[in-house]
Amino acid sequence: MKISPVKGTRDFYPTDMAVRNFIVDGWKKVSLRNGFEEYDGPIFEYLKMFQIKSGDEIVEQLFSLTDRGGRDLALRPEMTPTLARMVNQRINALSRPIKWFSVPRLFRAERPQKGRLREFFQWNIDIIGVDQTTADAEIIFTTIDYLRQTGLTPQDVKVRISSRRLLAAVLKSYGIPADQLDALYAVLDKKAKLPIETFEQMLSEQVPDRQTLDKIVTFINIDSMSALEDVIQAESEEAAAFSEVKAVFATLKAMGVGDYCIYDPSIVRGLAYYTGIVFEVHEAGGELRAICGGGRYDNLLRDFGGPAISATGMGMGDCVLEILLREKGLLGESIAQKRLDYFVAFAEGYGGDTVYRIVAELRSRGLSAAFSYKAKAGLSKQFKEASAQNAGKCVIVGDEFKDHKLVVKDMTTGEQVLVDYDEFLSGLDTT
Ligand code: HAM
Repeated sequence: MKISPVKGTRDFYPTDMAVRNFIVDGWKKVSLRNGFEEYDGPIFEYLKMFQIKSGDEIVEQLFSLTDRGGRDLALRPEMTPTLARMVNQRINALSRPIKWFSVPRLFRAERPQKGRLREFFQWNIDIIGVDQTTADAEIIFTTIDYLRQTGLTPQDVKVRISSRRLLAAVLKSYGIPADQLDALYAVLDKKAKLPIETFEQMLSEQVPDRQTLDKIVTFINIDSMSALEDVIQAESEEAAAFSEVKAVFATLKAMGVGDYCIYDPSIVRGLAYYTGIVFEVHEAGGELRAICGGGRYDNLLRDFGGPAISATGMGMGDCVLEILLREKGLLGESIAQKRLDYFVAFAEGYGGDTVYRIVAELRSRGLSAAFSYKAKAGLSKQFKEASAQNAGKCVIVGDEFKDHKLVVKDMTTGEQVLVDYDEFLSGLDTT
């Protein structure tokens, strides 16, 4: 019986794994240099944890299960609820601000499409316990710091920044009741993902009054800070929210990444818990789904039974990112190759224990080393094996070993030298 992989999952063959590691290693390195500490949680949680505040879209996409004790569980579709639960659990013991990162494996029963799968990895960075917009700017800066180090330029990717608080104030001034906001956000979030007619149809179901609908559409199409400034009422909730947006842009400019950032009020975010600054990164061409998204969620810890502590963060999946890096030629060919420091070959009549001893010696010094499993392979066959494994050097055990000497062949230049075995060992580069 032939068994296929489950729809929306990936097999990571060694070359794919090398790419995944390249991405994950980059995320970790950038997190650490921006002052984040790593954490992790369980891969499944109580189902209800994701039903409280993630929003309908996530709830519809949950992989849920019932354990033997009849408990309703779900595979984690995102990390933020786990983070909120973990922080609440130790709130008095953790020193603040909390700056944590994680790279969880997540599951969402989405319709598989380019850049969206049912199992994926997502880099999370979050800052908990800082009210000021500097924390939002730090999250955005760290995101850009990663993108920039991969080689992506402001011409390739754009960070689209907006504010849920500002949008809420504007919608309130248009007469939208507070209890309709979540449903409206869910529709507005679909603007870039749906054909315009479908989007407008969905919007008109939420906002039947034509004049109000037109005002909303005009607002979410504003495309510059100066145009936004013109419509903001002085000394209002809108003005307070607008000053937060301005502060974030000013900090990002000071940190030298302003050219990656633009204001875009149509960024609303699909998840229900965001309360303030929100952002997404999109490929400049706009072809692909969002590379990442995040924002401020000041009520989530309280909604999970903890104290009212503010938080802001971001999640970046590996799928769209990988497509983009590949398209831009930023995944070096060398990533996908196995590399070996030494291949230990033997000339006719030698081999066996001597080869194993040298291989073990090299490995004990932290170098990668291999040998041929074919006991009777000739030297040229062994060189082929060494090349296939990308060995940097080949050590040849032959007649000279009687005098405690080895031939070392550089696999790039082909140059061969005869060396004393002890000198060879003491001269090894184990850095
Ligand atoms: P999200 O917008 O649901 O936010 O997901 C963030 C990112 O995860 C997306 O932009 C995308 O890169 C990736 N992603 C989401 N779904 C899939 C999928 N089915 N396949 C591949 N990649 C996917 C969150 O998850 C928030 N919890 C992020 C956050 C952290 N906000 C604050 N802290």
